[in-house]
Amino acid sequence: MEEFRSVRGFHDIFGEELERFNAVRQTVRRILELYNFEEIILPVVEYAEVFQRSIGEATDIVQKEMFVFPDKKGRMLALRPEGTAGVVRAFIQNRMFALKPYTKLFYEGPMFRYERPQAGRYRQFHQIGGEVFGSLDPLVDAEVISIAHKVVKELKIEAVVEVNSIGCKVCRPAYREALVQYLEQVAGHLCEDCIDRKDRNPLRVLDCKVPTCKSAVKDAPKMVDFLCEECREHYQKLLEYLNIMGIPYVENPNLVRGLDYYTKTVFEVVSRELGITIIAGGRYDYLVEEMGGVPTPAVGFAVGVERVAMLVKELPQRQPLYMVIPLGEDTVSYALKVCELLREKGKRVELSYKRAGLKKQLELANKLKADYAVIVGEDEMREESVSIKNLHTGEQVKLSLKELFSHVL
Ligand code: HAM
Repeated sequence: MEEFRSVRGFHDIFGEELERFNAVRQTVRRILELYNFEEIILPVVEYAEVFQRSIGEATDIVQKEMFVFPDKKGRMLALRPEGTAGVVRAFIQNRMFALKPYTKLFYEGPMFRYERPQAGRYRQFHQIGGEVFGSLDPLVDAEVISIAHKVVKELKIEAVVEVNSIGCKVCRPAYREALVQYLEQVAGHLCEDCIDRKDRNPLRVLDCKVPTCKSAVKDAPKMVDFLCEECREHYQKLLEYLNIMGIPYVENPNLVRGLDYYTKTVFEVVSRELGITIIAGGRYDYLVEEMGGVPTPAVGFAVGVERVAMLVKELPQRQPLYMVIPLGEDTVSYALKVCELLREKGKRVELSYKRAGLKKQLELANKLKADYAVIVGEDEMREESVSIKNLHTGEQVKLSLKELFSHVL
Protein backbone atom coordinates (compact mmCIF):
# COMPACT_ATOMS: atom_id res chain seq x y z
CA MET A 1 0.00 0.00 0.00
CA GLU A 2 1.16 3.52 -0.71
CA GLU A 3 2.40 5.41 2.36
CA PHE A 4 0.33 8.27 3.72
CA ARG A 5 1.93 11.70 3.57
CA SER A 6 1.05 14.75 5.63
CA VAL A 7 -0.97 17.45 3.89
CA ARG A 8 1.11 19.98 1.89
CA GLY A 9 2.22 22.82 4.16
CA PHE A 10 1.39 20.83 7.32
CA HIS A 11 4.50 19.54 9.06
CA ASP A 12 5.59 17.27 11.87
CA ILE A 13 7.81 18.85 14.50
CA PHE A 14 10.12 16.55 16.43
CA GLY A 15 13.71 15.89 17.48
CA GLU A 16 16.12 18.79 17.28
CA GLU A 17 13.59 21.04 15.55
CA LEU A 18 11.22 20.50 18.46
CA GLU A 19 13.99 21.31 20.94
CA ARG A 20 14.50 24.63 19.18
CA PHE A 21 10.74 25.16 18.94
CA ASN A 22 10.33 24.57 22.67
CA ALA A 23 13.30 26.78 23.51
CA VAL A 24 11.42 29.61 21.75
CA ARG A 25 8.15 28.81 23.48
CA GLN A 26 9.75 28.71 26.91
CA THR A 27 11.65 31.94 26.38
CA VAL A 28 8.60 33.85 25.12
CA ARG A 29 6.34 32.48 27.87
CA ARG A 30 8.87 33.41 30.55
CA ILE A 31 9.23 36.95 29.17
CA LEU A 32 5.43 37.36 28.99
CA GLU A 33 5.25 36.29 32.62
CA LEU A 34 7.72 39.09 33.49
CA TYR A 35 5.30 41.59 31.95
CA ASN A 36 2.34 40.12 33.85
CA PHE A 37 0.43 38.64 30.89
CA GLU A 38 -2.19 35.99 31.58
CA GLU A 39 -2.76 33.03 29.29
CA ILE A 40 -5.95 32.41 27.37
CA ILE A 41 -6.61 29.21 25.45
CA LEU A 42 -8.72 29.97 22.40
CA PRO A 43 -10.62 27.78 19.97
CA VAL A 44 -8.88 26.94 16.71
CA VAL A 45 -12.19 27.40 14.86
CA GLU A 46 -14.32 30.58 14.83
CA TYR A 47 -17.16 31.81 12.66
CA ALA A 48 -15.52 33.00 9.45
CA GLU A 49 -17.03 36.43 9.98
CA VAL A 50 -14.85 36.99 13.07
CA PHE A 51 -11.83 37.10 10.76
CA GLN A 52 -13.53 38.73 7.77
CA ARG A 53 -14.62 41.69 9.89
CA SER A 54 -11.37 42.15 11.78
CA ILE A 55 -8.56 41.26 9.38
CA GLY A 56 -10.49 42.90 6.54
CA GLU A 57 -12.37 41.71 3.45
CA ALA A 58 -9.77 43.21 1.11
CA THR A 59 -6.74 41.48 2.64
CA ASP A 60 -4.89 38.54 1.10
CA ILE A 61 -5.53 36.52 4.26
CA VAL A 62 -9.31 36.79 3.95
CA GLN A 63 -9.49 36.76 0.16
CA LYS A 64 -7.12 33.90 -0.58
CA GLU A 65 -5.65 32.26 2.49
CA MET A 66 -8.38 31.23 4.91
CA PHE A 67 -9.43 27.63 5.39
CA VAL A 68 -13.21 28.11 5.33
CA PHE A 69 -15.85 25.38 5.54
CA PRO A 70 -19.53 25.08 6.43
CA ASP A 71 -20.73 23.26 9.55
CA LYS A 72 -23.66 20.85 9.32
CA LYS A 73 -26.12 23.74 9.53
CA GLY A 74 -24.41 25.61 6.73
CA ARG A 75 -22.77 28.29 8.93
CA MET A 76 -19.37 29.29 7.63
CA LEU A 77 -16.49 28.46 9.95
CA ALA A 78 -12.78 29.14 9.56
CA LEU A 79 -9.55 27.71 10.93
CA ARG A 80 -7.96 30.69 12.63
CA PRO A 81 -5.34 32.41 10.44
CA GLU A 82 -4.10 34.45 13.44
CA GLY A 83 -4.86 35.01 17.12
CA THR A 84 -5.84 38.65 17.59
CA ALA A 85 -9.39 38.40 16.21
CA GLY A 86 -10.17 35.46 18.53
CA VAL A 87 -8.78 37.25 21.58
CA VAL A 88 -10.90 40.32 20.78
CA ARG A 89 -13.97 38.11 20.33
CA ALA A 90 -13.24 36.47 23.70
CA PHE A 91 -12.53 39.82 25.38
CA ILE A 92 -15.95 41.09 24.32
CA GLN A 93 -17.89 37.86 24.86
CA ASN A 94 -16.52 37.33 28.37
CA ARG A 95 -17.02 40.99 29.36
CA MET A 96 -13.36 41.28 30.29
CA PHE A 97 -13.44 45.06 29.96
CA ALA A 98 -15.51 45.09 33.17
CA LEU A 99 -13.01 43.06 35.18
CA LYS A 100 -9.87 45.20 35.07
CA PRO A 101 -8.79 48.61 33.78
CA TYR A 102 -6.17 46.91 31.62
CA THR A 103 -6.19 43.37 30.33
CA LYS A 104 -3.02 41.63 29.16
CA LEU A 105 -3.60 38.29 27.51
CA PHE A 106 -1.33 35.86 25.73
CA TYR A 107 -2.08 32.78 23.66
CA GLU A 108 -0.19 30.18 21.75
CA GLY A 109 -1.03 27.55 19.22
CA PRO A 110 -1.42 26.60 15.59
CA MET A 111 -2.64 29.07 12.95
CA PHE A 112 -3.65 28.21 9.39
CA ARG A 113 -3.10 30.08 6.15
CA TYR A 114 -3.39 28.71 2.65
CA GLU A 115 -0.11 30.22 1.44
CA ARG A 116 2.46 28.84 -0.98
CA PRO A 117 4.72 26.73 1.26
CA GLN A 118 8.45 27.54 1.27
CA ALA A 119 11.28 27.74 3.82
CA GLY A 120 9.76 29.25 6.98
CA ARG A 121 6.29 29.44 5.46
CA TYR A 122 3.74 26.79 6.27
CA ARG A 123 0.01 26.32 5.98
CA GLN A 124 -0.10 25.29 9.63
CA PHE A 125 2.32 27.29 11.74
CA HIS A 126 2.48 28.38 15.38
CA GLN A 127 2.30 31.74 17.03
CA ILE A 128 2.66 33.04 20.55
CA GLY A 129 0.98 36.39 20.80
CA GLY A 130 0.22 38.97 23.43
CA GLU A 131 -2.50 41.63 23.46
CA VAL A 132 -2.90 44.57 25.84
CA PHE A 133 -6.37 46.13 26.10
CA GLY A 134 -7.36 49.42 27.69
CA SER A 135 -4.62 52.00 27.12
CA LEU A 136 -3.96 54.64 24.49
CA ASP A 137 -0.54 55.38 25.96
CA PRO A 138 2.42 54.94 23.57
CA LEU A 139 4.24 53.51 26.57
CA VAL A 140 2.30 50.30 25.99
CA ASP A 141 3.38 50.20 22.33
CA ALA A 142 6.97 50.63 23.53
CA GLU A 143 6.58 47.83 26.08
CA VAL A 144 5.15 45.48 23.47
CA ILE A 145 8.09 46.23 21.16
CA SER A 146 10.46 45.72 24.08
CA ILE A 147 9.03 42.21 24.56
CA ALA A 148 9.76 41.38 20.92
CA HIS A 149 13.23 42.81 21.31
CA LYS A 150 13.87 40.78 24.49
CA VAL A 151 12.84 37.59 22.70
CA VAL A 152 15.44 37.98 19.95
CA LYS A 153 18.07 39.27 22.38
CA GLU A 154 17.69 36.36 24.77
CA LEU A 155 17.77 33.85 21.95
CA LYS A 156 20.84 35.61 20.49
CA ILE A 157 19.16 36.17 17.13
CA GLU A 158 20.35 39.02 14.94
CA ALA A 159 17.33 41.04 13.95
CA VAL A 160 16.22 44.59 13.24
CA VAL A 161 13.16 46.23 14.77
CA GLU A 162 11.32 48.28 12.13
CA VAL A 163 8.63 50.76 13.18
CA ASN A 164 6.14 53.01 11.46
CA SER A 165 2.86 54.79 12.11
CA ILE A 166 -0.04 54.24 9.75
CA GLY A 167 -2.24 56.91 11.31
CA CYS A 168 -5.89 56.76 12.24
CA LYS A 169 -9.38 57.41 10.86
CA VAL A 170 -8.68 61.14 10.92
CA CYS A 171 -5.44 61.26 8.93
CA ARG A 172 -5.35 58.08 6.85
CA PRO A 173 -8.05 58.98 4.29
CA ALA A 174 -6.08 62.01 3.01
CA TYR A 175 -2.95 59.89 2.81
CA ARG A 176 -4.76 57.12 1.03
CA GLU A 177 -5.99 59.60 -1.54
CA ALA A 178 -2.51 61.02 -2.10
CA LEU A 179 -1.10 57.51 -2.40
CA VAL A 180 -3.72 56.36 -4.91
CA GLN A 181 -3.04 59.47 -7.01
CA TYR A 182 0.65 58.68 -6.98
CA LEU A 183 0.03 55.00 -7.80
CA GLU A 184 -2.11 55.98 -10.79
CA GLN A 185 0.90 57.82 -12.16
CA VAL A 186 3.26 54.86 -11.80
CA ALA A 187 0.64 52.20 -12.65
CA GLY A 188 2.61 51.19 -15.75
CA HIS A 189 5.40 49.86 -13.51
CA LEU A 190 3.21 47.91 -11.08
CA CYS A 191 2.69 44.15 -11.09
CA GLU A 192 -0.77 42.72 -11.81
CA ASP A 193 -1.52 42.14 -8.12
CA CYS A 194 -0.63 45.72 -7.28
CA ILE A 195 -2.83 47.13 -10.05
CA ASP A 196 -5.64 45.36 -8.22
CA ARG A 197 -4.36 46.39 -4.76
CA LYS A 198 -4.09 50.03 -5.87
CA ASP A 199 -7.89 50.31 -5.66
CA ARG A 200 -8.67 47.61 -3.12
CA ASN A 201 -5.95 48.11 -0.53
CA PRO A 202 -3.45 50.73 -1.77
CA LEU A 203 -1.22 50.69 1.33
CA ARG A 204 -0.28 47.09 0.56
CA VAL A 205 1.41 48.18 -2.66
CA LEU A 206 4.15 49.71 -0.48
CA ASP A 207 4.91 46.24 0.82
CA CYS A 208 5.11 44.39 -2.53
CA LYS A 209 8.31 42.39 -3.01
CA VAL A 210 8.33 42.59 -6.84
CA PRO A 211 11.42 44.69 -7.81
CA THR A 212 9.57 46.95 -10.31
CA CYS A 213 6.93 47.73 -7.68
CA LYS A 214 9.64 48.36 -5.10
CA SER A 215 11.32 50.96 -7.27
CA ALA A 216 7.97 52.42 -8.40
CA VAL A 217 7.00 53.27 -4.79
CA LYS A 218 10.38 54.74 -3.83
CA ASP A 219 9.09 58.32 -4.13
CA ALA A 220 5.53 57.58 -2.97
CA PRO A 221 4.08 59.93 -0.36
CA LYS A 222 4.81 58.78 3.19
CA MET A 223 2.20 58.26 5.89
CA VAL A 224 4.44 59.91 8.52
CA ASP A 225 4.12 63.20 6.60
CA PHE A 226 0.33 63.00 6.79
CA LEU A 227 -0.12 62.13 10.48
CA CYS A 228 -2.62 64.23 12.43
CA GLU A 229 -1.49 66.01 15.58
CA GLU A 230 -2.51 63.15 17.87
CA CYS A 231 -0.88 60.41 15.77
CA ARG A 232 2.30 62.42 15.30
CA GLU A 233 2.61 62.99 19.03
CA HIS A 234 1.92 59.31 19.70
CA TYR A 235 4.63 58.26 17.25
CA GLN A 236 7.17 60.76 18.60
CA LYS A 237 6.56 59.58 22.15
CA LEU A 238 6.92 55.94 21.09
CA LEU A 239 10.32 56.65 19.52
CA GLU A 240 11.34 58.57 22.65
CA TYR A 241 10.40 55.64 24.89
CA LEU A 242 12.26 53.19 22.67
CA ASN A 243 15.34 55.40 22.97
CA ILE A 244 14.97 55.53 26.75
CA MET A 245 14.62 51.74 26.89
CA GLY A 246 17.72 51.36 24.73
CA ILE A 247 15.90 49.45 22.00
CA PRO A 248 17.55 49.93 18.61
CA TYR A 249 15.06 50.44 15.76
CA VAL A 250 14.85 51.74 12.23
CA GLU A 251 11.94 53.78 10.95
CA ASN A 252 10.51 52.21 7.83
CA PRO A 253 7.99 54.58 6.22
CA ASN A 254 6.91 51.81 3.83
CA LEU A 255 6.09 49.35 6.61
CA VAL A 256 2.42 48.40 6.34
CA ARG A 257 0.84 45.22 7.57
CA GLY A 258 -1.16 42.49 5.91
CA LEU A 259 -4.10 42.96 8.30
CA ASP A 260 -6.49 45.92 8.16
CA TYR A 261 -7.15 46.47 11.86
CA TYR A 262 -4.05 48.51 12.66
CA THR A 263 -3.95 52.17 13.69
CA LYS A 264 -0.94 54.29 14.62
CA THR A 265 1.98 52.02 15.57
CA VAL A 266 3.01 49.07 13.42
CA PHE A 267 6.25 47.14 13.81
CA GLU A 268 8.10 44.11 12.54
CA VAL A 269 11.21 42.31 13.71
CA VAL A 270 13.19 41.20 10.66
CA SER A 271 15.90 38.52 10.78
CA ARG A 272 19.23 39.72 9.39
CA GLU A 273 20.18 36.18 8.43
CA LEU A 274 17.02 35.24 6.51
CA GLY A 275 15.59 38.67 5.66
CA ILE A 276 12.12 37.55 6.78
CA THR A 277 9.78 38.90 9.44
CA ILE A 278 9.83 36.76 12.55
CA ILE A 279 7.75 38.84 15.01
CA ALA A 280 5.16 41.47 14.17
CA GLY A 281 2.42 43.58 15.67
CA GLY A 282 0.93 46.97 16.28
CA ARG A 283 -1.91 49.01 17.70
CA TYR A 284 -5.59 48.50 16.84
CA ASP A 285 -7.69 51.09 18.64
CA TYR A 286 -10.96 50.57 16.75
CA LEU A 287 -11.13 46.80 16.51
CA VAL A 288 -12.92 46.06 19.79
CA GLU A 289 -15.61 48.58 18.89
CA GLU A 290 -15.83 47.35 15.30
CA MET A 291 -16.44 43.85 16.61
CA GLY A 292 -19.30 45.01 18.80
CA GLY A 293 -17.53 45.73 22.09
CA VAL A 294 -17.19 48.77 24.30
CA PRO A 295 -14.61 51.02 22.55
CA THR A 296 -11.24 49.87 23.92
CA PRO A 297 -7.81 50.73 22.54
CA ALA A 298 -5.38 47.83 22.19
CA VAL A 299 -1.92 46.86 21.03
CA GLY A 300 -0.23 43.50 20.56
CA PHE A 301 2.25 41.30 18.77
CA ALA A 302 2.81 37.72 17.63
CA VAL A 303 5.93 35.61 17.42
CA GLY A 304 6.17 33.17 14.51
CA VAL A 305 7.49 30.20 16.48
CA GLU A 306 8.84 28.15 13.53
CA ARG A 307 10.59 31.18 12.05
CA VAL A 308 12.27 32.14 15.31
CA ALA A 309 13.13 28.48 15.99
CA MET A 310 14.96 28.26 12.63
CA LEU A 311 17.33 30.93 13.92
CA VAL A 312 18.04 29.51 17.37
CA LYS A 313 21.65 28.35 17.44
CA GLU A 314 22.19 27.45 21.08
CA LEU A 315 19.97 24.75 22.49
CA PRO A 316 19.35 24.63 26.21
CA GLN A 317 21.38 21.85 27.87
CA ARG A 318 19.30 18.77 28.60
CA GLN A 319 19.59 16.97 31.94
CA PRO A 320 22.17 14.16 31.79
CA LEU A 321 20.70 10.78 30.92
CA TYR A 322 21.22 7.76 33.20
CA MET A 323 20.78 4.35 31.63
CA VAL A 324 20.09 1.62 34.15
CA ILE A 325 21.44 -1.72 32.96
CA PRO A 326 20.32 -4.89 34.74
CA LEU A 327 22.61 -7.87 34.22
CA GLY A 328 20.54 -11.04 34.33
CA GLU A 329 16.82 -11.61 34.87
CA ASP A 330 17.09 -11.74 38.68
CA THR A 331 18.35 -8.17 38.93
CA VAL A 332 15.38 -6.60 37.10
CA SER A 333 13.35 -5.87 40.24
CA TYR A 334 16.39 -4.25 41.87
CA ALA A 335 16.99 -2.24 38.66
CA LEU A 336 13.40 -0.99 38.83
CA LYS A 337 13.98 0.20 42.38
CA VAL A 338 17.18 2.04 41.34
CA CYS A 339 15.28 3.71 38.46
CA GLU A 340 12.61 4.94 40.83
CA LEU A 341 15.15 6.31 43.31
CA LEU A 342 16.95 8.16 40.51
CA ARG A 343 13.70 9.62 39.18
CA GLU A 344 12.71 10.70 42.69
CA LYS A 345 15.97 12.67 42.68
CA GLY A 346 14.79 14.33 39.45
CA LYS A 347 17.18 12.44 37.17
CA ARG A 348 16.36 11.56 33.56
CA VAL A 349 16.44 7.78 33.44
CA GLU A 350 16.14 5.15 30.76
CA LEU A 351 15.82 1.52 31.83
CA SER A 352 17.44 -0.85 29.39
CA TYR A 353 14.77 -3.08 27.82
CA LYS A 354 17.37 -5.29 26.24
CA ARG A 355 18.15 -8.52 28.07
CA ALA A 356 21.77 -9.02 26.99
CA GLY A 357 25.34 -8.95 28.24
CA LEU A 358 27.10 -5.81 29.44
CA LYS A 359 28.84 -5.07 26.12
CA LYS A 360 25.63 -5.11 24.09
CA GLN A 361 23.82 -2.98 26.66
CA LEU A 362 26.63 -0.42 26.80
CA GLU A 363 26.41 -0.15 23.01
CA LEU A 364 22.71 0.49 23.41
CA ALA A 365 23.39 3.18 26.04
CA ASN A 366 25.74 4.94 23.60
CA LYS A 367 23.17 4.76 20.81
CA LEU A 368 20.56 6.33 23.07
CA LYS A 369 23.09 9.07 23.92
CA ALA A 370 23.18 8.25 27.64
CA ASP A 371 25.71 10.10 29.78
CA TYR A 372 25.97 7.48 32.52
CA ALA A 373 25.43 3.74 32.64
CA VAL A 374 24.14 2.53 35.99
CA ILE A 375 25.08 -1.13 36.04
CA VAL A 376 23.27 -3.46 38.41
CA GLY A 377 24.55 -7.03 38.46
CA GLU A 378 24.05 -9.69 41.09
CA ASP A 379 26.91 -8.37 43.26
CA GLU A 380 25.45 -4.87 43.25
CA MET A 381 22.03 -6.23 44.12
CA ARG A 382 23.39 -8.20 47.08
CA GLU A 383 25.40 -5.23 48.36
CA GLU A 384 22.65 -2.65 47.69
CA SER A 385 25.06 -0.77 45.45
CA VAL A 386 25.45 0.29 41.81
CA SER A 387 28.38 0.62 39.42
CA ILE A 388 28.27 3.94 37.64
CA LYS A 389 30.19 4.38 34.40
CA ASN A 390 30.70 7.82 32.93
CA LEU A 391 30.19 7.11 29.24
CA HIS A 392 32.18 10.17 28.15
CA THR A 393 35.34 9.45 30.17
CA GLY A 394 34.97 5.71 30.68
CA GLU A 395 35.58 6.16 34.40
CA GLN A 396 33.68 3.68 36.60
CA VAL A 397 33.00 3.62 40.36
CA LYS A 398 31.00 1.37 42.62
CA LEU A 399 28.87 3.17 45.20
CA SER A 400 26.42 2.01 47.83
CA LEU A 401 22.89 3.36 47.30
CA LYS A 402 23.33 5.31 50.51
CA GLU A 403 26.53 6.98 49.26
CA LEU A 404 24.98 7.62 45.86
CA PHE A 405 21.80 9.26 47.08
CA SER A 406 23.04 11.12 50.14
CA HIS A 407 26.44 12.33 48.89
CA VAL A 408 26.71 12.17 45.11
CA LEU A 409 23.32 13.09 43.61
P1 HAM B 1 1.30 38.44 11.11
O1 HAM B 1 2.37 39.37 10.67
O2 HAM B 1 0.30 38.05 10.11
O3 HAM B 1 0.59 39.14 12.35
O4 HAM B 1 1.95 37.14 11.72
C1 HAM B 1 2.87 37.21 12.80
C2 HAM B 1 4.04 36.28 12.57
O5 HAM B 1 3.57 34.96 12.32
C3 HAM B 1 4.87 36.60 11.34
O6 HAM B 1 5.81 37.62 11.60
C4 HAM B 1 5.56 35.28 11.07
O7 HAM B 1 6.68 35.12 11.91
C5 HAM B 1 4.49 34.27 11.47
N1 HAM B 1 3.82 33.75 10.28
C6 HAM B 1 2.82 34.32 9.58
N2 HAM B 1 2.45 33.53 8.55
C7 HAM B 1 3.24 32.43 8.59
C8 HAM B 1 3.34 31.22 7.80
N3 HAM B 1 2.54 30.99 6.77
N4 HAM B 1 4.27 30.31 8.15
C9 HAM B 1 5.08 30.51 9.22
N5 HAM B 1 5.02 31.62 10.00
C10 HAM B 1 4.11 32.56 9.70
C11 HAM B 1 -0.46 38.59 13.03
O8 HAM B 1 -0.83 37.47 12.89
C12 HAM B 1 -1.05 39.54 14.08
N6 HAM B 1 -2.16 38.83 14.73
C13 HAM B 1 -0.02 39.99 15.07
C14 HAM B 1 -0.60 40.91 16.10
C15 HAM B 1 -1.00 40.59 17.34
N7 HAM B 1 -0.88 42.19 15.92
C16 HAM B 1 -1.42 42.69 17.02
N8 HAM B 1 -1.51 41.71 17.89
